[in-house]
Amino acid sequence: MASPRGRRVVLGITGGIAAYKAPELVRQLRAAGAEVRAVLSQSAARFVAVGALTAVGAEVVDDEEMGMLHIDLARWADIVLIAPATAHLLARLAIGAADDLLTTLCLATEAPICLAPAMNRVMWEHPATRANHTQLLERGVLFVGPDEGPQACGENGPGRMSQPAEIAAFLEHLWGEEGRLRGVRAVVTAGPTYEALDPARGLTNRSSGKMGYAVAAALAEQGAQVLLVSGPTGLTAPPGVRRVLVTSAIEMREVVLAHRDGMRLFVGAAAVADYRPETVSAQKLKKQAGTLTITFVRNPDIVAEVASWTPRPFTVGFAAETEELERHARTKLEKKGLDLVIANPIGEPGAGFGEDHNRVTLIDKDRTVAWTAAPKTEIARQIVMEIIKRLPRDTHA
Ligand code: C5P
Repeated sequence: MASPRGRRVVLGITGGIAAYKAPELVRQLRAAGAEVRAVLSQSAARFVAVGALTAVGAEVVDDEEMGMLHIDLARWADIVLIAPATAHLLARLAIGAADDLLTTLCLATEAPICLAPAMNRVMWEHPATRANHTQLLERGVLFVGPDEGPQACGENGPGRMSQPAEIAAFLEHLWGEEGRLRGVRAVVTAGPTYEALDPARGLTNRSSGKMGYAVAAALAEQGAQVLLVSGPTGLTAPPGVRRVLVTSAIEMREVVLAHRDGMRLFVGAAAVADYRPETVSAQKLKKQAGTLTITFVRNPDIVAEVASWTPRPFTVGFAAETEELERHARTKLEKKGLDLVIANPIGEPGAGFGEDHNRVTLIDKDRTVAWTAAPKTEIARQIVMEIIKRLPRDTHA
């Protein structure tokens, strides 16, 4: 379903002056065919009248009725939209508070949560709000706005709630894009590999797996059937993603090969070791006088192998580079025969290995596009949008 018709919106309203726009938002959502149940925070009632909300077709749910209501609403919702969302609401969601109907149902719901923040610009820019915003983005909470402009407090800057028409358009867009990969079988590799030397030691790298896991999650959000082949990481499998854990590059290749049939999309986000020790000692290696020489042999290049199949899935690789990012990444695209390469710098503070943020450059045969730094979860969603644009038509559902 690609429109708000028949969609069920729980509209949370918190106590900011922008709450006066809530009835107009309800009117627009209702006009587009959505059902709306409104939940007001205690202070919201100071800014918007229940009568104004019901007059335009919202069912207003009373906080007093609590009981099991939070669970019913959490299950009923196709989306929980909070507009306006105050700084206090962001903080409460960030810590997982459950002290009123609205925050409790946010904890209990599996539906997407979307916030339209509204606050004074200094509050929006405060480090505490910045941290809460980032944390919520990383948990997959969606944001519309805020806009920049004159504020009720007399200041000018970011913090104005987006206009109701813009919020309604965002939901329409969201529902229009959803499920674009339904029926597409995708395999994603993620994390490091571990190449054993002996029972106690081995060779690995600093990949956390966060980028690959975020891509797997974003593909699943679009309805793809995702198999995540993961090296050792401390991460949990994203919802709706089937995960197989592996240790070495050889094992990773075997699992990928076993899922070749029907594979429409392959994303190689794993930092696969290029070499492995030629022999793995059955016993722990003992110290000896002088130096120790270990012979390494080449590991299979999994993404290059996948790209050489006929027929082949749409194949995406990653390139983590310490220098000459674009040149090396483009060489990878050509040498490995990939459709798309996502390049990111190593060693830049706040981006790359182990970090929650990344700064990537997208490279295909025609162009190079550098994106601004953003949380890995956001970048993953954008990468998936770029994949959707390029996937051969017959691979769409
Ligand atoms: O050549 P390099 O390792 O820098 O290439 C990185 C890309 O190739 C990544 O997409 C990575 O997942 C993939 N790769 C692979 N198998 C290897 C080495 C890298 O699939 N043995």
